[in-house]
Amino acid sequence: MFPSSIYKDRRNRLKNEIQGGLIFFPGNQEVSFNYPANTYAFRQDSSFLYFFGLDHPDLAGVMDLDTGKDILFGNDVEIGDIIWMGKQPTMKSRGEEIGVEETLPMSKLAETLQSALTSGRKIHYLPPYRGETVIQISELLGIPLSGIRNQASEELIRGVVKLRMKKDQLEIQEMESMVDVAYLMHTTAMKMARPGTIEKEIAGTIEGIALAHACGVSFPVILTINGQTLHNHYHGNMLMTDRMLVIDAGAESEYHYASDITRTVPVGGEFNYRQKEIYNIVLKANMEAIQAIKPGVAFRDIHLMAGRVIAGGLIDLGIMKGNADDAVAAGAHTMFFPHGLGHPIGLDVHDLEGVGEGYIGYDNEIQRSKEFGLGFLRFGRRLQEDFVMTIEPGIYFIPELIDIWRAEGKFTDFINYDKVEKYKDFGGIRIEDDVLVTNKGYRVLGKPIPKTVEEIEDIMRIG
Ligand code: GLY
Ligand code: MN
Repeated sequence: MFPSSIYKDRRNRLKNEIQGGLIFFPGNQEVSFNYPANTYAFRQDSSFLYFFGLDHPDLAGVMDLDTGKDILFGNDVEIGDIIWMGKQPTMKSRGEEIGVEETLPMSKLAETLQSALTSGRKIHYLPPYRGETVIQISELLGIPLSGIRNQASEELIRGVVKLRMKKDQLEIQEMESMVDVAYLMHTTAMKMARPGTIEKEIAGTIEGIALAHACGVSFPVILTINGQTLHNHYHGNMLMTDRMLVIDAGAESEYHYASDITRTVPVGGEFNYRQKEIYNIVLKANMEAIQAIKPGVAFRDIHLMAGRVIAGGLIDLGIMKGNADDAVAAGAHTMFFPHGLGHPIGLDVHDLEGVGEGYIGYDNEIQRSKEFGLGFLRFGRRLQEDFVMTIEPGIYFIPELIDIWRAEGKFTDFINYDKVEKYKDFGGIRIEDDVLVTNKGYRVLGKPIPKTVEEIEDIMRIG
């Protein structure tokens, strides 16, 4: 855990953002996998971790905005628990670890919240994303299940987003060390990407690296020779020459900070001519987007700029036609680059997404598009110093999308469908890095992971 002063300072800063009442942070509970006692690996709620730091189930934190007092709720373990779990710290010492003086048993939580409600005080909570927490809040506050998300506190959401979006040095170090674990994961995958290997042999090996060097993966590994499917979790294919392997995987630190890296490599270690041509367009989009990062720049503009690089490259190859600016303005490039350029990353891989993307990625100035492609951009607003963003452009040839758009006669001014047909067996390419916004520009986090054609072919040749 970070020093207790960090958590105390974060709570004090949050209190300055919100008018009055109580803030209630339910920690996560264990979640059953296939029967009650067989649970998924415990994952604490990220905002609870941010403000209360404790990585244990069955805790809750309350901040009283009127008295300034913080209370940690949870039960001391009994001998029945100790037999199974070993000796556990007392609630008092858990409180000390995070600078909270007052600890109360869980049975007092309902009473504390109810008495605040009776006095007409507001109880702020974040929108929950787990059924267990929805039920807990509903029972504690007497709100019907269907009303729980709507009655979450917008003031609290905005305060938490404001604080959590900006990463401090300790958080950046955590994330950087997780990119270093991703380096091991990705370079191992590259060396294993030989014809005849089954995807799951590589996926399992790199998940093992995340477990051995960190707390595990930060999201389920995406590893596929069918990279045209953006989030392909099927790992049963045999690698074949002339396919590329998309590896989108990251690690989560002991304190639960994430990395999220994507590399695309040719099975067998050598790009063929056609693969190299498309790869270098995606690489250019990735590098130019990274170079455009600095405070004050709207992420949506960088996304569109990456789109123009992609459209320009595809026009040069005869896959698209016309003018790149016009093609992107019309949205024609979204056939090949249908998703957003990136997202904030931190305690969550898609940082803070649980509170609602609208609160994180958009504001009064820059509002979310409803169009295909641009509408998938999770974050469009202006960047600020100390944000950490992923940059992950891609080019995909999705046969089903090609067929539908062709049948509809969509964007025939910009898409050369006869040429696109020849790429239906191509797959997809994505290249992703994690990038810190600095006061003047950017810094790509972690040890550089092979990314150019030469770097990838070199590491795959050496094996
Ligand atoms: N790496 C998975 C994602 O960004 O959604
Ligand atoms: Mn990502």
